[in-house]
Amino acid sequence: MGRLGIALLAALMSSLPCWLGAPCPPVPTSSNITQFVCTSPSLSSFPTGFPEETLMISVEFTNLSSIGPDALQKLPNLRELHLSKNQLRSLPGSLFRDLPALRVLDLTNNLLEGLPPEIVDSHSPLQHLVLNGNRLGALEPAWFQTLRELEWLDVSNNRLQALPPNCFQNLSSLKSLDLSHNHLGRLAPELLAGLPSLERLNLEGNQLHSIVEHTFDLVPHLRYLFLQHNNLSSLPAQLFGKLGQLALLDLSNNTLTSLAPCFSEQNLTLELDLSRNPWACDCTMLAFMRWVAGRSVGLYTLQHTLCGTPENLKGRTVAAAAKDALVASCSAAPTERPSPCSLPRGHASPAERGWPRWQHPAPSGQPAS
Ligand SMILES: *[C@@H]1O[C@H](CO)[C@@H](O)[C@H](O)[C@H]1NC(C)=O
Ligand SMILES: *[C@@H]1O[C@H](CO)[C@@H](O)[C@H](O)[C@H]1NC(C)=O
Ligand SMILES: *[C@@H]1O[C@H](CO)[C@@H](O)[C@H](O)[C@H]1NC(C)=O
Ligand SMILES: *[C@@H]1O[C@H](CO)[C@@H](O)[C@H](O)[C@H]1NC(C)=O
Ligand SMILES: *[C@@H]1O[C@H](CO)[C@@H](O)[C@H](O)[C@H]1NC(C)=O
Ligand SMILES: *[C@@H]1O[C@H](CO)[C@@H](O)[C@H](O)[C@H]1NC(C)=O
Repeated sequence: MGRLGIALLAALMSSLPCWLGAPCPPVPTSSNITQFVCTSPSLSSFPTGFPEETLMISVEFTNLSSIGPDALQKLPNLRELHLSKNQLRSLPGSLFRDLPALRVLDLTNNLLEGLPPEIVDSHSPLQHLVLNGNRLGALEPAWFQTLRELEWLDVSNNRLQALPPNCFQNLSSLKSLDLSHNHLGRLAPELLAGLPSLERLNLEGNQLHSIVEHTFDLVPHLRYLFLQHNNLSSLPAQLFGKLGQLALLDLSNNTLTSLAPCFSEQNLTLELDLSRNPWACDCTMLAFMRWVAGRSVGLYTLQHTLCGTPENLKGRTVAAAAKDALVASCSAAPTERPSPCSLPRGHASPAERGWPRWQHPAPSGQPAS
């Protein structure tokens, strides 16, 4: 994880709910206790006896392997239920149906292979659903389609290989979607339809080889996009062109050789991590670095942002190459080559010329090596 990741993690940690509460199973008491925390490692059945006023229950780092269908009755005020670090393999269909106030459901680090359809009922105010670290091999649209208030969905560290295209329909409040550390090889082009509020999308650590051109046009409010540690070797020129609020893009540790500077120029303030890719240090890269330098674009981890080609620049930082070697060797070519996103009329863009993806042909000023 780079500096970007750590900064973001710190921000996330500070927004996590706090864990103070009385021990559970609850003992009858006259005081007005609304939060209960069980951490006994040998606890194997869900405790009973919670008062109706209960707002938060945490049964975590315990040994639950199942929960009875009636375990969560008569808790009309329960807002948070934390069940992480247990041995849950499945959940009864009606388990969460009688929790009309539930906002946070955390099932991190269990053994779940699936969920009951429509986990909560259709008027649920559920805002955070965390399924990180389970064994989900697929997602069912039926799990999520009633979750109109959901803002945070974390399905990271599961076994997802593909997602149904209509998987996230109607999650109109969703701001953060974490699909990191799965086995996703591709994304359906319409996957993000139905997520008009999305601001943060994490696809880190999958096996993406390519992403279809208009995939991100559907989420115009996206601010944070994590694509690092995938197998991306090229990206369509206009992939990020509609993301007018993009603030952070992590493309590190892929197999990219070039990137078109096709970002929405209005109000552009962008942090980019391009490290650990085999960049082609040619005149296109020089133009890209000049584009970066002329704008409010920050490049992270420059010491690991290296040239993969040509042979004489291999292993040098892109920044150093752009400072001297490239300037010298590209001086025969027009210094600021027009980017393919802003070609003057009469010039065909790479896409129009029929190149399948953003793969720049050898520019005219390429050094003879
Ligand atoms: C218990 O707390 C709730 C809200 O936190 C409050 O409405 C209620 O009056 C309190 N009851 C007693 C007996 O203190
Ligand atoms: C957890 O439960 C399993 C049986 O389901 C048991 O074998 C194991 O010893 C229990 N672990 C603890 C710490 O009690
Ligand atoms: C999504 O919402 C629309 C209208 O808000 C509704 O017509 C449609 O049935 C919903 N789809 C699902 C899968 O719930
Ligand atoms: C790069 O990504 C791969 C997965 O695609 C991961 O296994 C590896 O640890 C990553 N390398 C670095 C230096 O982060
Ligand atoms: C990445 O893609 C290349 C070909 O595009 C393939 O040879 C390689 O096995 C892939 N690596 C992973 C980790 O999927
Ligand atoms: C520019 O971006 C900033 C920060 O994201 C935002 O507050 C502002 O409203 C944006 N301005 C325009 C004109 O989009």
